[in-house]
Amino acid sequence: MSSSISEVTRVVLVTGAAGGLGAAVARRLAEPGTALVLCDLDPAGLETVAGSLDGTPVRTQVVDVGDAAQVDAAVATAVEEFGGLHVMVNNAGVIAPNARLHNLTAADWDLQLRVNLMGVVHGTTAAIRVMRKAGGGSIINTASVAGLTAWAYAAPYCATKAAVVHLTKVAAVEYAKERIRVNCVCPGTFESGMSAKIPREAMAAMEAKHPLGFGTPEDLAGAFAYLAGDESRWTTGAAIVVDGGYAAP
Ligand SMILES: NC(=O)c1ccc[n+]([C@@H]2O[C@H](COP(=O)([O-])OP(=O)(O)OC[C@H]3O[C@@H](n4cnc5c(N)ncnc54)[C@H](O)[C@@H]3O)[C@@H](O)[C@H]2O)c1
Repeated sequence: MSSSISEVTRVVLVTGAAGGLGAAVARRLAEPGTALVLCDLDPAGLETVAGSLDGTPVRTQVVDVGDAAQVDAAVATAVEEFGGLHVMVNNAGVIAPNARLHNLTAADWDLQLRVNLMGVVHGTTAAIRVMRKAGGGSIINTASVAGLTAWAYAAPYCATKAAVVHLTKVAAVEYAKERIRVNCVCPGTFESGMSAKIPREAMAAMEAKHPLGFGTPEDLAGAFAYLAGDESRWTTGAAIVVDGGYAAP
């Protein structure tokens, strides 16, 4: 079923929307009545995802989430084109090559801090400004089980994802009175553009630690749909683990 702009009752912005998980979340949330603003560094990838959302009002915007002004501009697109912002999905993320701490460069740290942490800070801040005026909303951050458990060779990734989990909790506490819910999803490993960068032997060892094996982006999308919708109205500050049992032991 398709929606026209006049029938839009929910506006969702997804960052990292050209990637494996962002695209799956966009497709899952593209229900009748929902309009989407899809953001990524990759314009061709964005067009591919938008093209798969037949009948859903969609805008695409090339955005570097490390740049606060670009994130503000994307939120402004949601407001100007569709009349508001109800759900903000801060999903863009990067991982640097595997390395122990003494081999990491300043650039490895800078990139992951800029995208994984400051990207979420920028998205959360921009969304809060709009949602406060509107009387509420739902912010969903993509963290990782790497933010809850220690992965060797991935210190910046683990540290930035742990920071996202804690940022989520602080924002939840600060804005609950204004009916802005802030939660994160902590995925285990699934195949995507990001996991393709991890050495295959490391991936095999990682898969052995997932009792249900690796997941797919679609296995995660339901958690985002839950947090985006009214069924989660009493859920805030949560870090929802969806990991095929990885973090259970
Ligand atoms: N793949 C996994 O196993 C896994 C596990 C846990 C968490 N995650 C998290 O899931 C999220 C999505 O990752 P994915 O697995 O779909 O990877 P992906 O590489 O397929 O997608 C990430 C997307 O983010 C975009 N991006 C990167 N830097 C950006 C920037 N500065 N501004 C805007 N967009 C940018 C990329 O272009 C890409 O489209 C990330 O936050 C990642 O850390 C992934």
